[in-house]
Amino acid sequence: MADIIDNSITAGASRVEIVAETIGEDPWIAIIDNGKGMDEAELVEAMRPGSRNPLDERAGHDLGRFGLGLKSASFSQCRQLTVISRCDGRISAATWDLDKVAKTNVWKVDFEDDLTDMPSTDRLAETGTIVLWRKLDRLSTGYINDANKRAAEINKALSAAERHLRLCFHRYMEGFRPRLSLLLNGRKLQPIDPFASQHKATQPDPVEVLPLAKGNVETQCYTLPHHKMVSKSEWDDLGGPEGHLRTQGFYIYREKRLIIAGSWLGLARQTELTKLSRVRVDIPNTMDADWKIDVRKANAQMPPVVRDRLRKIVERLQGTSKRTYKRRGQKLVDETKLPFWTRNLKDGKIFYRPNSDHPAISGFADSLPEEFRHGFRTCLKLVGAGLPMESLHADMLGGAEDVHADEADFASLAVGAETAIRTLLGMGMTASDAVSSLCSNEPLRSHKEDVRRLTEGILEGEQQ
Ligand SMILES: Nc1ncnc2c1ncn2[C@@H]1O[C@H](COP(=O)(O)OP(=O)(O)OP(=O)(O)O)[C@@H](O)[C@H]1O
Ligand SMILES: [Mg+2]
Repeated sequence: MADIIDNSITAGASRVEIVAETIGEDPWIAIIDNGKGMDEAELVEAMRPGSRNPLDERAGHDLGRFGLGLKSASFSQCRQLTVISRCDGRISAATWDLDKVAKTNVWKVDFEDDLTDMPSTDRLAETGTIVLWRKLDRLSTGYINDANKRAAEINKALSAAERHLRLCFHRYMEGFRPRLSLLLNGRKLQPIDPFASQHKATQPDPVEVLPLAKGNVETQCYTLPHHKMVSKSEWDDLGGPEGHLRTQGFYIYREKRLIIAGSWLGLARQTELTKLSRVRVDIPNTMDADWKIDVRKANAQMPPVVRDRLRKIVERLQGTSKRTYKRRGQKLVDETKLPFWTRNLKDGKIFYRPNSDHPAISGFADSLPEEFRHGFRTCLKLVGAGLPMESLHADMLGGAEDVHADEADFASLAVGAETAIRTLLGMGMTASDAVSSLCSNEPLRSHKEDVRRLTEGILEGEQQ
């Protein structure tokens, strides 16, 4: 579908509507644009496989290259392709039917004179083109004779296509020359900006330009907002069905159309560390040969000079994300005066350990009869040593934001909090220092007001 819409954009369309008739005996899909259309001679040429020389110079906004897309994309989904086009007040229509080609063994296109029963023709604008797919064999492979299951299968494929199109053409849908309206069965689709560039918590780096003989390659790095800064639906929309880990990386645009999404192109691994990094790479169509753009425009090989530049970008990103990560780790130690878990570095390895010096814990330990204290500290050590690292690693790999510490309400935390407050006040700490130290970490950080109230209550009780 993206291949077909490429042609619509090149033809200057501002509106592309996809209409799918999935129920019924003969399902069909039509992609209808309001571009400049084709006259009969142009249509004949367009129907020819390899209608253009790949070496031709193309206009700056032309998304085509090989003269194949219309045919190859259509035949990957259907066995019958009809193109209906209106230009200068005249309608022309032609059909490729692969069954007929197979039967007659002749590659001959059929002209359609009578369009009365042709689906969707009433939707043709003053000028524009309809690409009509019938005999949707690829989209309903398993269920040739079961109309309901076939419809469900086609609808599933359409919803996957919907996300793909919202991403591929987001720059055009956001307003790039001219703004493109994309509709699916009457519903206007919204663009997906993979950089969430309008979100205030997104961090864009400056644009960098690499001037080359055949044009400029432009790059810009973005750090997506942390999952706590966006709503669940924004987060899911950005990550898509594959999730953030698998969608980090370069986003390569050819003439503002996304051709490769979310890959480090062999320059780095997709890791948790760089999960929020996405890099926009813009290339013009004048570099197709250098980039070895393939027929589906879904693959490209970078020229060495670009590869070097992108490698530097990756190294820089890995450096900064490591620093950000470490800084956050450091923060845990510096600012967090009273964590329940300590994070220690030993022989280059990091150890998490329950903090037996936390006043909630040490206060409780002190209140125990002497003979129980050792047993209590041993239990704590067991909990620390039993931290299930392997399953944590596995869970974090899929999506760290879905891994949570246990939840506890304040009622169950209050006993420990009270012990801690009494201990800290007993050590001569002021009430406000005690509250801020205790609340610098979870789980009490989420209950700062409760801790404050509890502290006031304790102080009042002591005064009476
Ligand atoms: N929707 C359309 N509106 C106007 N002209 C079109 C449309 N679709 C196709 N054409 C014409 O048909 C030609 C062939 O299209 P096709 O997609 O097969 O090849 P291409 O776009 O030239 O190159 P590529 O193989 O890279 O897509 C186009 O060059 C264009 O002239
Ligand atoms: Mg094309």
